[in-house]
Amino acid sequence: MKTIQLLSLVLIAGWMFACNAPKGELDELDKKVEELLGQMTLEEKVGQMNQYNGFYDVTGPAPSAGDAKNKYDHIKKGWVGSMLNVRGAKNVREMQSLAVDSSRLGIPMIFGFDVIHGHKTLSPIPLAESASWDLEAIEKSARIAAIEASAEGLNWTFAPMVDISRDARWGRVMEGAGEDTYLGTRIGVARVKGFQGDDLSANNTIAACAKHFAAYGFAEGGRDYNTVDVGTATLYNVVFPPFKAAIEEADVKTFMNSFNIVNGIPATGNSFLMRDILKGEWGFEGYVISDWSSGEEMIDHGFARDTAHVAQLAAIAGSDMDMESYAYVKYLAKHVREGRVAESVVDEAARRILKVKFELGLFDDPYKYCDEAREKELIYHQDHMDAALDMAKKSIVLLKNENNTLPLSKEQKKIAVIGTLAKDKDSPLGNWRMAGEDNTAVSVLEGLEKYTSNIKYAEGVKLVTGPTAFPIELEVNETDRSGFKEAIRLAKKSEVVIMVLGEHGLHSGEARSRANIDLPGLQQELLEEVYKVNQNIILVLTNGRPLAITWADEHLRAIVEAWQLGTQAGNAIAEVLFGDYNPSGKLPMTFPRHVGQVPMYYNYFNTGRPGPDGELFYPHYMDESHLPLYAFGYGLSYSSFEYSDLKVQVVDKENVSVEVMVKNTSSVDGEEVVQLYIRDRVASIVRPVKELKGFDKINLKAGEAQSVSFKLSKKELGFYNGNGEFLLEPGDFDVMIGGSSDKVLTASFVLN
Ligand code: NOJ
Repeated sequence: MKTIQLLSLVLIAGWMFACNAPKGELDELDKKVEELLGQMTLEEKVGQMNQYNGFYDVTGPAPSAGDAKNKYDHIKKGWVGSMLNVRGAKNVREMQSLAVDSSRLGIPMIFGFDVIHGHKTLSPIPLAESASWDLEAIEKSARIAAIEASAEGLNWTFAPMVDISRDARWGRVMEGAGEDTYLGTRIGVARVKGFQGDDLSANNTIAACAKHFAAYGFAEGGRDYNTVDVGTATLYNVVFPPFKAAIEEADVKTFMNSFNIVNGIPATGNSFLMRDILKGEWGFEGYVISDWSSGEEMIDHGFARDTAHVAQLAAIAGSDMDMESYAYVKYLAKHVREGRVAESVVDEAARRILKVKFELGLFDDPYKYCDEAREKELIYHQDHMDAALDMAKKSIVLLKNENNTLPLSKEQKKIAVIGTLAKDKDSPLGNWRMAGEDNTAVSVLEGLEKYTSNIKYAEGVKLVTGPTAFPIELEVNETDRSGFKEAIRLAKKSEVVIMVLGEHGLHSGEARSRANIDLPGLQQELLEEVYKVNQNIILVLTNGRPLAITWADEHLRAIVEAWQLGTQAGNAIAEVLFGDYNPSGKLPMTFPRHVGQVPMYYNYFNTGRPGPDGELFYPHYMDESHLPLYAFGYGLSYSSFEYSDLKVQVVDKENVSVEVMVKNTSSVDGEEVVQLYIRDRVASIVRPVKELKGFDKINLKAGEAQSVSFKLSKKELGFYNGNGEFLLEPGDFDVMIGGSSDKVLTASFVLN
């Protein structure tokens, strides 16, 4: 009795949530899709929902051989709609021909790949690119990645990752745009536009994928794949906006769900996320892919009984394509035949997938991306190298520059360069450089040596002792100090010491959470030893997440945040150090003083006990400041900027104009990111002390002043309550403008 009731409940749910055939007039494309759907067997429709890994690059736990061995046979039967990790024009052609020439209907497969920051020519890691706040450059970087990836046979990237994260311990912060929803939204839109271009059917554009839906960046303790527990107000105000904008503003074609739970339900089986919000409220017409085995993982979550149950739950919840769980291919047709899943659920998913394939032009020419001559011509094209250099320079953030220590004079004699990362040609490529070739970056040393022959190098300490290839864990050197002596000797007799320290490129990324966010291994010890003999140190940091470098900030004169900057890393760093490029990057994530402060972010709530400092009963630490080391939006330049004359005009009850004067008070031309924040002082749900709502990157000649204006409308002034209702409430607001979230001019206004 109980089983029958349960079964009918599931069935009803299946029917209720399933979208039926498109309503109203069908356009040409829909007609083609419907026609094809009409010819397909149930197994073929389910086949569209099945993706297999090509085993060129494994980007998750390896599936059992039993599952993999039937792969080619399945493709020929029309049971495989997509593959991931197959690339190269020739390889893709071969694989595609199995589907096109051997399957009954010859439906082409779509080939997905993690094209995250460049493809063969690597751009800075996404977190670094985000520090540029330069939307045009970021869009161009994604455009170039698409050009190279499409030349290698690919037509779909699993990017951009638009997860907001406030936890520097989480290794995947390197892959996103940082902690802020507004900045992350603008950057996410730019990236989707770059990948998808103006015409998705062109052979150099690829479908993008907004991932990971949703709240993956909120893993507890920053531990990848861990439990997530966020309230609905945070979901609506912080997590959702970049996803929603990717659809509304950039027509993103696909979504990926995530490994985590949201409100107790794994995202892959979460119909609130996929049916109610994404495909319901937001009207998303593309398709959703699961993350790697995230379907199967619902068993470990304690949500699904077995793989058959996974297939049922995930399909009904709206997960259209299965990556590496083998759940749909094994069980979904059976579920439909036996009445546990409505056939309309399968129809809807297949329809969504086929539509994207049509839009890509795969039915016109399944091999349109498989042109080896084009591949040869475009991979590592000089234009791509130039753009990667430009992007790398724009991504650098100057964190400290006491007494104008930087830029260095080109005539500088006796420069010591210390640190194993200075010579490393691999680490600058960062993680998620899937198609990248090991050791192909310009190292810092190589970049510097183009400027001067006055450089002597010492390794100091080895950072990593074991193998570094993905996905092997890094073995960090904790014991070998044998290189200290030479580094100290060299530092002693040098005028200036450039120390390149930080994380290896594979210290961040998927599954690369860290409980400490200081300089790994013996690097801090080396830094302090060198400092004892020469205090004229310039620290060049390379890292994929914010690091707690409080000692360095307190002792050193100059610190340059150089992330992992991709193929052209060393050239970009050298240009900044020698002053041929004036840095303008601003931090997209707060840098804490200590890991114990994490999660740390600028747009926190005031709480009932905000301070003042020095009181006992307010949210502070007894043993550390509650303030960050470097705030969100912070970053210096060789120029200096002054803000004045902040003016606010309330136009009507939902529109406000704001204006400010910005002056370059230095003798050096430079760029500044003018940032606008607001605070809604009293609202029906509490609002953060500050929220970014606009920015403008401007170029000012030495001594030049410019008025910068912003418009705030309902979209920027309002917020979501915990029920997902968007509200704009009258009352008092503050508006703050400055070159960093912690250094602003403030004015107030009232909305009636
Ligand atoms: C797992 C990651 O979470 C996801 O972002 C990626 O796209 C897939 N693996 C495929 O590599």
